[in-house]
Amino acid sequence: MKPIQMVDLQGQYEAIKDEIDAGIAQVIRSAKFINGPEVGLFEKELADYLDAGHVVACANGTDALQIALMALDLPPDAEIIVPAFNYVAAAEVVALLKYKLVFADVHPRYFTLDSEDVRRRVTPKTKVIIAVHLFGQGAPMEELMKLAHEHGLYVIEDNAQSIGADYIFSDGSRKRLGTIGHIGTTSFFPSKNLGCYGDGGAVITNDAHLASAMRSIASHGQSKKYYYQRVGINSRLDTLQAAILRPKLKRLDEYIIRRREAADFYNRHLQQVDWLILPECAPYSTHVYHQYTVQVKEKNRDNLAAHLAAFQIPTMVYYPEALHKAPAYHRQEISLPVAEALTSSVISLPMHTELTHDQLTYICDAIKSYGT
Ligand SMILES: Cc1ncc(COP(=O)(O)O)c(C=O)c1O
Repeated sequence: MKPIQMVDLQGQYEAIKDEIDAGIAQVIRSAKFINGPEVGLFEKELADYLDAGHVVACANGTDALQIALMALDLPPDAEIIVPAFNYVAAAEVVALLKYKLVFADVHPRYFTLDSEDVRRRVTPKTKVIIAVHLFGQGAPMEELMKLAHEHGLYVIEDNAQSIGADYIFSDGSRKRLGTIGHIGTTSFFPSKNLGCYGDGGAVITNDAHLASAMRSIASHGQSKKYYYQRVGINSRLDTLQAAILRPKLKRLDEYIIRRREAADFYNRHLQQVDWLILPECAPYSTHVYHQYTVQVKEKNRDNLAAHLAAFQIPTMVYYPEALHKAPAYHRQEISLPVAEALTSSVISLPMHTELTHDQLTYICDAIKSYGT
């Protein structure tokens, strides 16, 4: 059996090697390394895939969040609500731009924002909610958009982990995550469901004015070459990365199916393990399983990780510290009990497009042998 990895990027590359290599060779031959035609083509293809008005590619998913916030032109005392159980990027850009960071708690089963807790934290200074679609499924967008309409707020959807998943509205209609709020952002970090071979990201919007502001901000605030309309940053997707992403975007739905098959295998084979809480799919979202994250009840999560490591099974803890507890973001004593509890119970199992039946069986058997 092939060694088990959290993510098998080599295996995925082998299957599409010819197309990827040809794309890379073409960019090198053209020598259009910056803003080459592949970047625009990829932006258009991603906009079509998402059914979104505009996609602007940028250097990474953290920049995408920064560009999105900069485009909103917020007052300096703006308060921005972000989930406390999350990757650091959203909190980081809010702090860098010197807005007030307000953490909210998350749902104990879905891991995404708890809209009731968000509602409790809205003040007259609140301007933005950053809804993070964590681990492969959506935050409760319908409720968050309702709250945003009531209070005149912007909603940014951080879709770095859930690209390709759909939001299911209460009337049964669907939209791709990342296209419901005012701006969506994403990351093409290599291990993401749509990952390149380096860094990459994008912002997504249906608003032409925001799209043009974000395109300018990502390019030093220029209106045209060497004319500066606003303060911007330098954030570009390399042409090489766009050439790598184009064939991978064509296969994204197929990759999602493989992730769902692996998740389904885990669900079926781990459901009788009574000390595990398996990931639950929210009724308002499809799931693309960026992570397969379980919660360990009654037993020690870190000892389970050590037990699996002895079987050469890697695991990861996303995330071991709630952001309001991190020294960098600890502004005031607040209690967010769900986020805090999750940090000591969650563990993510290997999840990628190349997992085999034998590997999945081996992982499930090793889990079941823990503590027996
Ligand atoms: C939820 C979330 N937001 C933002 C980012 C930032 O993306 P990048 O690493 O491309 O800056 C990540 C990446 O890990 C992420 O998981």
